[in-house]
Amino acid sequence: MTKVAIIYHSGYGHTAKVADHILKGAQAVHGADVTLYKADDLTSPDKGPWSELAEADAIIFGAPTYMGSASAVFKQFMEAASKVWMAQGWRDKIAAGFTNSGSLAGDKLNTLQELAIFAGQQGMIWVNYGAFPGYNTSQSDYESAWNRAGHMIGLGTQSLTDLPADQTPDRADLETAEDFGRRVAEATKRWVRGKVDQALETA
Ligand SMILES: Cc1cc2nc3c(=O)[nH]c(=O)nc-3n(C[C@H](O)[C@H](O)[C@H](O)COP(=O)(O)O)c2cc1C
Repeated sequence: MTKVAIIYHSGYGHTAKVADHILKGAQAVHGADVTLYKADDLTSPDKGPWSELAEADAIIFGAPTYMGSASAVFKQFMEAASKVWMAQGWRDKIAAGFTNSGSLAGDKLNTLQELAIFAGQQGMIWVNYGAFPGYNTSQSDYESAWNRAGHMIGLGTQSLTDLPADQTPDRADLETAEDFGRRVAEATKRWVRGKVDQALETA
């Protein structure tokens, strides 16, 4: 089994919906065991499912973009994870990140960079999204385009601010989230296999 954890915060349910679709995509990968965790349950280093996270092969981090930055609750989680950093507990796990915001751009890149730097601080192996940007030619169809905002470092989705989470993000963004989940789970599977091969070589 390849264990993938998704840790996210969502103030109003939109980022939670994206997380659900990342889970769906990752679970479609044979042998992937994927679990969702709320950052709200991980804001203290001494409370929460930290020991389960220690067992994960990959952790996908997700936060809504609030004021051009990861949400405060997610940042509380990041700081609580400094205890893991002290023990280098997540070193060499796979990491990836996603964010969701009201605007198509909305300064999401800053949040994705924060997540990538956090993973770097933890000594994790960052997997980008890197999918072809689906909306950058005159022939592109806005309604169906995947990776519409063209983020490469991680996944960026858009939730229209006047709609509830059962109506936004739209289908194309949710399919993009599934594609991203699949990519991270597949990369994790290859990474875990490589570690097993390496251990056999040195045995
Ligand atoms: C405090 C706050 C700050 C926000 N700042 C931004 C922002 O900088 N850029 C943006 O595009 N949307 C911004 N938004 C909109 C949210 O990113 C958007 O509504 C998102 O879907 C919220 O996700 P959630 O439902 O998971 O909390 C902000 C919303 C709030 C509540």
